[in-house]
Amino acid sequence: MNDLTTLHQTKESTTPISESLQNVLSNTYGLYFATHNYHWNVEGSQFINLHKLFDEQYNELFQAVDIIAERIRELESYAIPFKDKDILNILKTTSDAINKETDVNTRALRMVHNLIDMNQTVINICQLTKNEAQAVEDDETESLMVERVTAHQKALWILRSIVK
Ligand SMILES: [Fe+2]
Repeated sequence: MNDLTTLHQTKESTTPISESLQNVLSNTYGLYFATHNYHWNVEGSQFINLHKLFDEQYNELFQAVDIIAERIRELESYAIPFKDKDILNILKTTSDAINKETDVNTRALRMVHNLIDMNQTVINICQLTKNEAQAVEDDETESLMVERVTAHQKALWILRSIVK
């Protein structure tokens, strides 16, 4: 096998870490979509606080999505944000909170609860990915996952404090 063939075969390969990072990417992207959507559609007595909070959170997530996708590229895989029906499930969960039949304050609370659940899911996926990265001594992915867990834990603390 010549060098060119070897090079071609190792390029754009899929590793367990890049697979896990794809999962982090799609769930972070989904949370970004939900948070931005809620920034637009929230109403009620907490409108201005939630509108501003969601603004901060979707901007942080938008930057994170780019860093996660580029880490996947650094590992020589392509960044695919969504597989199969991922995006449809995320959009359904998101739009369920914008149900016109409930009052505006109930809808706002439902948005906060959805974001709590989605942040917790992303934390779980990041922690699994962090452990996998640690096992293969991929320090950069491990460090990125620690940063992401820290950011989501902060988001979770703020969101939980609203609904206590
Ligand atoms: Fe805006």
